[in-house]
Amino acid sequence: EDSVSVGLLGVGVVGSGVIDLIEQHQAKLAHQLGCNVHVKSALVRNPNKARDVDAKTNGTLLTTNSDDVLNDPEIDVIVEVMGGIEEARESILKAFKAKKHVVTANKDLVALYGAELHEAAAENRCDFYYEASVAGGIPILRGITDGFASDHIEQLMGIVNGTTNYILTKMHNEGVGYEEALKEAQDLGFAEADPAADVEGLDAARKMAILGRLAFSTHIDLADVEVTGINGIDLIDLQYGDNLGFTMKLIGFAKFDGKQVEVNVQPALISKDHPLSDVKNEYNAVYVYGEAVGEAMFYGAGAGSMPTAAAVISDVVAVIKNMHRGVTGSQFVEPRFEKELKTEAQ
Ligand code: HSE
Repeated sequence: EDSVSVGLLGVGVVGSGVIDLIEQHQAKLAHQLGCNVHVKSALVRNPNKARDVDAKTNGTLLTTNSDDVLNDPEIDVIVEVMGGIEEARESILKAFKAKKHVVTANKDLVALYGAELHEAAAENRCDFYYEASVAGGIPILRGITDGFASDHIEQLMGIVNGTTNYILTKMHNEGVGYEEALKEAQDLGFAEADPAADVEGLDAARKMAILGRLAFSTHIDLADVEVTGINGIDLIDLQYGDNLGFTMKLIGFAKFDGKQVEVNVQPALISKDHPLSDVKNEYNAVYVYGEAVGEAMFYGAGAGSMPTAAAVISDVVAVIKNMHRGVTGSQFVEPRFEKELKTEAQ
């Protein structure tokens, strides 16, 4: 194939970044893939709205009819970056039925409906990837799946919510109060539309459920993730911790002891000797402990148009490579071996 056509669902902050980066890096993508990649059409709510990227000049058709994207036989890959749950879920299920591969950045959706979506992908022999759903630009899902493929991950600790890390950093370093720090995070644009999801720890819980799924090859029910947010934290708590050599962070833990997976999110005092204590402002980091690899830490931007778009495109590249090899893929691998053992034992 000379060109692979991508269909976008949503041209917001991330969608515009995707159009932009694909356009800017045409030559590099063609070099890696042996074909061109282009965004053929994009579903939008209002085609006349002013956007950072003028999609029309890039040759992308803007449409309000999802069938133009989901049922276009020329489109092989659907990129869902519209956010929200129900409409996104229905669109992705429709895309799989139409035998299209799907890439999404939608952490809320993937945390809640990941099992269902993986099943639909497998039934239709389609790819399903979501690198951008956790820690934006950090290739963490690829890191813990491919990078630890021959290892047993014992433990993950993550700072996976930029808003709360920003708030805690400001409080710790500048003595700014909680409310003021939250306001700043909102002004900078990385807080969720309703920042309750950030400060109450839900956003981090969703990301930890996704990380746990891939690290331990098992779907994690969000209801099983214990969550405490940072909304009850006082400046004085941080200052006491600081005097004793600790930094307060909102930490997601995921552990697997060989039998049971445990995932939780809570404010924790991290020793200043630990690399996670140095992760400042809106940055994200995931610390992984594997039996063979030992310690590894992934660090970088957890949000933002370009970092997130770059992660989305890394998935599009994975999908196109699979297409060229005639295989289907996903980062979630069912524990095939265990399943066989279970069947035998019955
Ligand atoms: N509200 C999220 C955060 C955005 O603060 O990390 C990125 O998922």
